[in-house]
Amino acid sequence: MSTSLTKRLALGAAVVLIATLAACKGEAPAPGGPAKGPGGVPQFPPYQMRAEQPVGNRLVGGRDPQAVFEHQCGYCHLPGGMGTNLLTKQRIMAGQPPETGILANRTDLTADYVKAVVRNGKNAMPPQTRVDMTDAELDAVAGWLARKR
Ligand code: HEC
Repeated sequence: MSTSLTKRLALGAAVVLIATLAACKGEAPAPGGPAKGPGGVPQFPPYQMRAEQPVGNRLVGGRDPQAVFEHQCGYCHLPGGMGTNLLTKQRIMAGQPPETGILANRTDLTADYVKAVVRNGKNAMPPQTRVDMTDAELDAVAGWLARKR
């Protein structure tokens, strides 16, 4: 094979390769794969940041229970939290509407059940001590979660 023919073949191969790469650019990601953001960085599913601690004395009642819930439980139980993700799957498997994966949407929770889960934990949920969640905070949050029953 002459040198010039080899060079021409190599050039031809390079042109085909560049054309193929150009055609691939902008293609949708493989089904199920993460979407790519700027620079090809994978975009992860939404996650939940921890809400701010509401002001007031943690040892006495009277603070806004929804704000306490969002601070203390929300990073797992608001949309995007791991508690919401796991409970949504459980609820769907139990034939319940997916939005009941959000604890605040539940109409079946009793205050006693919420307190028992919080103090003892449940499967993937770690128990919350009285340092994490004081008794006054838990009373308020458990009552708030049971309000729709
Ligand atoms: C570290 C994450 C995390 C935190 C913080 C957390 N939870 Fe959970 N929670 C979970 C997960 C995960 C589950 C689902 C457990 C399972 O079945 O695997 C769950 C389940 C529950 C359930 C049971 C629901 C059912 O259908 O049985 C209740 C009630 C609950 N959490 C209340 C709370 C409250 C109230 C707080 C705040 C004091 C809280 N959780 C804080 C992760 C968390």
